[in-house]
Amino acid sequence: MTFAELAQLTRSVRRFHQDRKISADELLGMVDVARMAPCAANLQKLRYSIVEDRELCREIFPAVRWAGYLEDWSGPRPGERPPAYIVIQAPRKEQKYTRIDVGIAAAYLVLAAGAHGIGACMIMSFDEDVVHGAVGSPEGYHPVLLVALGHPAEEVILEDDSERIEYWRDESSRHHVPKLPLDEVIY
Ligand SMILES: Cc1cc2nc3c(=O)[nH]c(=O)nc-3n(C[C@H](O)[C@H](O)[C@H](O)COP(=O)(O)O)c2cc1C
Repeated sequence: MTFAELAQLTRSVRRFHQDRKISADELLGMVDVARMAPCAANLQKLRYSIVEDRELCREIFPAVRWAGYLEDWSGPRPGERPPAYIVIQAPRKEQKYTRIDVGIAAAYLVLAAGAHGIGACMIMSFDEDVVHGAVGSPEGYHPVLLVALGHPAEEVILEDDSERIEYWRDESSRHHVPKLPLDEVIY
């Protein structure tokens, strides 16, 4: 697979085969890729909490706000929920580039997952207190971004679209993600 194909395939996935576990080695492998991501001044301030325990996943799930554009959908049903999460933790005292570092690390992480056929969704709309209560944080840190992970149980279709930015679901429950065409993003 070329890198462009991997990038195209690596869509946000929000419905999973909940009973298909992701191995500890696979989860560690994703963090191992994320830690190689570039970061400002090579400060390497980010830390990662791996959540695969069923009870902890159950605790974290209600903290997540899923797919804001899908008003009729309140999130994955039992059986479709993420069997794992990776929580990216950052210093509470943010430096100028902290959030950029978080984004780059998260991108490496989801691409590493995608390379193994594992679906992922970055989540920044979540109840921090609930996640902190579930996994804790290093001293002076807080959870900034969650990556929900699992084997995909939904089809996600990427399509060029100049008219809309909201993702949507069709009558077969396939998830469509519009992206602006190449000639519209080049200045
Ligand atoms: C920084 C960031 C935060 C996001 N937060 C959420 C979130 O809280 N809940 C959610 O369901 N999706 C979230 N997403 C996923 C986006 O909705 C998704 O990337 C977008 O719809 C485009 O789909 P794609 O990832 O398949 O290209 C987030 C993505 C990014 C990059």
